[in-house]
Amino acid sequence: MVFAILILMEQIISSIQSVIQQLFNVEQAVHLSRPDSDFGDFATNVAMQLAKPLGKNPREIAEQLAESLRQTGDYIDVSVAGPGFINLKLSSKKLADNLQSTWSEKYGENNDGAGKTVIVEYPSANMAKPYSVGHLRSGNQGWAVKRLMEVTGWKVITDNHLGDYGTPFGVWVVGFLKFSSDEQLADGGIYELGRVYIATKKALKDEKECGETVLADQVQDWLIKLENNDEQAVGYSQRFNDISISHIHEIMERLRITTDYELGEAFFAPKGKVAVQQLLEKGTAVQNQDGSVIVPLDDYGFDVPMLVQKSNGAALYATTDLATILYREETWHPDKVIYAVGSEQIFYFSQLIAMAKKIGVKTELVHLWFGTIDQVNEDGVREKMSSRKGVVMMEELLDQAEAKARQVVAGREISDNDIKKIAVGAVKFSDFIADRRTNILFNWDSIFALSGFSGPYIQYAAVRVNKILRDNAIIQPAGEDYDYEAEKSVLLKLLEYPEVVKLSARDLEPHKVATYLYELARELNRYYEITPIATKDVTDMQKQARLGMLQKVSFVFERGLNLLGIEVPTQM
Ligand code: ARG
Repeated sequence: MVFAILILMEQIISSIQSVIQQLFNVEQAVHLSRPDSDFGDFATNVAMQLAKPLGKNPREIAEQLAESLRQTGDYIDVSVAGPGFINLKLSSKKLADNLQSTWSEKYGENNDGAGKTVIVEYPSANMAKPYSVGHLRSGNQGWAVKRLMEVTGWKVITDNHLGDYGTPFGVWVVGFLKFSSDEQLADGGIYELGRVYIATKKALKDEKECGETVLADQVQDWLIKLENNDEQAVGYSQRFNDISISHIHEIMERLRITTDYELGEAFFAPKGKVAVQQLLEKGTAVQNQDGSVIVPLDDYGFDVPMLVQKSNGAALYATTDLATILYREETWHPDKVIYAVGSEQIFYFSQLIAMAKKIGVKTELVHLWFGTIDQVNEDGVREKMSSRKGVVMMEELLDQAEAKARQVVAGREISDNDIKKIAVGAVKFSDFIADRRTNILFNWDSIFALSGFSGPYIQYAAVRVNKILRDNAIIQPAGEDYDYEAEKSVLLKLLEYPEVVKLSARDLEPHKVATYLYELARELNRYYEITPIATKDVTDMQKQARLGMLQKVSFVFERGLNLLGIEVPTQM
């Protein structure tokens, strides 16, 4: 697949080069920039570069080049500005031809990742608690990156690295027996588990303050029972896990994200312990006096070693991640592994990546980190998003988003399915309005703003194009004589799309797609303002050409939003 605007630029560059060759008999590298559109579509400073070697005045060279370029007939205007800039205005017809010749059902896709495998890990939610906004960005960013890798030719494997191991299980059992009942659990499901978890954590804290360890010991007992496959412990574990997993799946379904695998921490814990033993044998890991095991990383620039085993022999987060890395190497031989996890874990992942290098893993491991989701609280202070009850639950957030979506479409007959698409579109798009590393300021009004940089704004633009296309059948392709002058800025934008996808995938920066789609929507709205599509005064030829272009716009909206995990509603 080729990149529409790059091809175009190459063509322009070679036409300039051949003119230089003819006039001055030299070979010269040519660079193009994009000037203000009043001046032209592209500009070059090549005349200034030629001035010295040719011993001539740059302005004079520019004038000579401009004259020859005019004669090629490829440009509708060639002008010289300042000390010797050459501004080129392309014929819109040429842009339309260019777009047509690179157009296919795979427009925007490429094969940069051909033959390579990437594992993308998201949303990696935790079992003990209801799904909160804490895992929203991982799902959004992870999914977008998965899609970007897919359309750029990678083989993609996705994994939901569930947080299903460790003390939470013990906390649950103790809390369940102390604070809950079968009925309460049946009623409240994951929310009951969440409640019990919080109550028990508090009880553990209180106890600790009094210097007691009764509950803490019970927690440890249950964990040991589970490790020893005690029947009752396994029973509880399954019961709690089932509730948790089906809740996680419900949320993922609402967010329209899936993964190929769900290999959680519990799956890797026993493998991790084996791996730690092997590292000890090799001397890569070191056992402390108290029995705990570390991998020193001073040779990789870290004063703090990686702790891979607790003094009591239990596995840690890092133990499970160690095993995960090794398992993925053996099973899938990936070229790249991408972890969509928040900025809170930057230090941890930099250590993990260093440890992987130290044990000889060659695969590129990428921590795809992102900032927090903030809000302005009642006192006007910016803080991490929360609710009166504590963390904001995804279920509540999505319900609220749906209510808001209904307000936005006020009174119009819109299907539930479309409401859901608008709600999820608004929530997801807010993740992409800036570089993922910046903290998001969550604001209900701006994420639904039909006039702003929002998901619904772009969805609305897409719905409008689709309606025009539905209402006006395209009977035949546009005539050869149409000049596409009115369509120029939209055509230029459409030509940019493949490059945007390429760079977003290369840099793992899906927000570039979001920005692009916003610009396309804006360009399109300007276009409508001055260009009638299907009124009485529009000739058949104009109409066919305009509808033909809108078909391409519709395609790019649909595919581009899809990369961000956002769907186009039927109505809005
Ligand atoms: N469950 C973890 C959390 O919520 C994220 C897991 C990230 N992935 C990993 N391989 N450590 O903090």
